[in-house]
Amino acid sequence: MELFLDSANLAEIQEVAPYGVISGVTTNPSLVAKENKDFFAVVAEISALIPGPVSAEVLATDTAGMLDEARQLAQIRENVIIKIPMTKEGIKCLPILSKEGIKTNVTLIFSQNQALLAARAGATYVSPFVGRLDDLGFDGISLVQDIVEMFKFYQLPTKVIAASIRHPLHVVEAAKIGADIATIPYKVFQQMFEHPLTASGVEKFMRDWQERVK
Ligand code: G3P
Repeated sequence: MELFLDSANLAEIQEVAPYGVISGVTTNPSLVAKENKDFFAVVAEISALIPGPVSAEVLATDTAGMLDEARQLAQIRENVIIKIPMTKEGIKCLPILSKEGIKTNVTLIFSQNQALLAARAGATYVSPFVGRLDDLGFDGISLVQDIVEMFKFYQLPTKVIAASIRHPLHVVEAAKIGADIATIPYKVFQQMFEHPLTASGVEKFMRDWQERVK
């Protein structure tokens, strides 16, 4: 499973990039709004820093407006992926963008039918939201699993991004059920490094080394 960082914060992305484990970045309007910067500038900075796919979401809600924004965003750099909301207007953009060679990530996926519609319309990626489903008492990871199995059964090339990841166990579960990608917030990414036995083990090795009989 590939790991993407779910962030629009340049400092976070710069810190995480040298680990060599992040192969892409996803953003959304809420994350970009927190940065208090020009949207296009944020996308330009991130896509210059990360060579892999960088998802940037359109803000228009009508097909013509979304297509217009998508084309502008796609011109920033070739690794910019256009995030399109799972609406009828959004789905209409997919065959058009696909024909133009513009890659898409259909976001706000909460059902298998939505994923199937997006895949059939030519989405490059779909993003089912795990945490937001869990919040309502549904099983977000089961949905990701059902989508992964459906795409495999019908050999659909659309990749599945487990999104709205809230804790390290979501990452493990997404990997177990074969998600192509998990997009992980900075905080969860930090938590993935941690284990108390690693910390105490390093400390003990160092202490024993310092106290060796010379
Ligand atoms: O970027 C989409 C998704 O990861 C949002 O997560 O935590 O706002 O549900 P969250």
